[in-house]
Amino acid sequence: MHLEFRNVSYSYNGVQDVLTNVSFSIDNSDIFCLSGRNGAGKSTLLKLLTKINCNYTGDILLDGKELRRWKREEVNGKIGICFQESECIWIQL
Ligand SMILES: Nc1ncnc2c1ncn2[C@@H]1O[C@H](COP(=O)(O)OP(=O)(O)OP(=O)(O)O)[C@@H](O)[C@H]1O
Ligand SMILES: [Mg+2]
Repeated sequence: MHLEFRNVSYSYNGVQDVLTNVSFSIDNSDIFCLSGRNGAGKSTLLKLLTKINCNYTGDILLDGKELRRWKREEVNGKIGICFQESECIWIQL
């Protein structure tokens, strides 16, 4: 599976961005470490990825298909997320 974020931005209040133009890509065999200070937007990014929060701008591509076109159940069948107390979240695709 291939995951790509292309210039993804997200705001909870429509005024201030929590994520601004985030871009990265992960391939199936990659182990990707997402780290940052408290409030940097790690959980928010994962909530976009799992379609809990949806009104982002930019593109999130799963296997080349925009996340908006995937059903949440389909995404949940492909991606498992384990939230941890530490400041580092691992995503394995
Ligand atoms: N439901 C929400 N409504 C409004 N603002 C929110 C909401 N959830 C998070 N935020 C804000 O969005 C920003 C990013 O929060 P987020 O939880 O994504 O950060 P994080 O990197 O996961 O932080 P932590 O390391 O503490 O887990 C913070 O400023 C937070 O206050
Ligand atoms: Mg968090």
